[in-house]
Amino acid sequence: MRYIEIKDADKIIRKSIYLVKNPMDYKNQWQELFGNQNPISLELGMGRGDFIIQMAKKNPNRNFIGLEIVDSQMVKAVERLKNENLPNLKLINMDAREIDKVFGKEIDTIYLTFCDPWPKGHDEKKRFTHESYLRLYDKIFKKGKHIILKTDNKGFFAYSLQTLSQYWYVFERVSLDLHHEENPIPNVMTDFEKNYFEEGRPIYYVDARFEG
Ligand SMILES: C[S@@+](CC[C@H](N)C(=O)[O-])C[C@H]1O[C@@H](n2cnc3c(N)ncnc32)[C@H](O)[C@@H]1O
Repeated sequence: MRYIEIKDADKIIRKSIYLVKNPMDYKNQWQELFGNQNPISLELGMGRGDFIIQMAKKNPNRNFIGLEIVDSQMVKAVERLKNENLPNLKLINMDAREIDKVFGKEIDTIYLTFCDPWPKGHDEKKRFTHESYLRLYDKIFKKGKHIILKTDNKGFFAYSLQTLSQYWYVFERVSLDLHHEENPIPNVMTDFEKNYFEEGRPIYYVDARFEG
């Protein structure tokens, strides 16, 4: 997917106190960076960041990291954070394919929200639920593995259920229409989700775990 390019995006995001400029220096030391032993959740492809910012606000006893490859996408997130005081939130500007260079076994939960549903075939490996990514996540999960995925894309959702179950994940909760569940699932909407919700599109959701 192509995103609008913002002039000097790199300079703008680097001024933010939330951006960790040299994330590789903190491998196995994220808890020290946060200054507490609270669990760490990571969102891959956070885009404009509303989800991870809201999560950090609502859950002061958990730590959150939003990772995004496109600096222009992150500009909105750093603008939103200008007047906030969230010591439990950090942002990283990098490719998710390199997460094992940045984290040791220190992540409790990975959020995959409306990730790009790359077509099958040549680009399939770019899908955040491709087996190569699931193997990568093994390197950074602390004890149990825990992935929460939301998407509007039925084909990508079906694909993800398949790759996750083939990788021995167990589904705690699955929804084919997150916003219309009889027993509501606690939820914080992402930027993309808000648009899809307004359009009345169903949102697919899975809470997948492997306790090992
Ligand atoms: C469709 S947007 C969803 C953004 C946000 N999660 C939301 O729901 O509003 C997908 C985001 O993933 C980012 N992305 C795609 N591939 C990535 C990668 N390999 N590493 C980090 N971010 C990536 C894109 O730049 C984009 O901002």
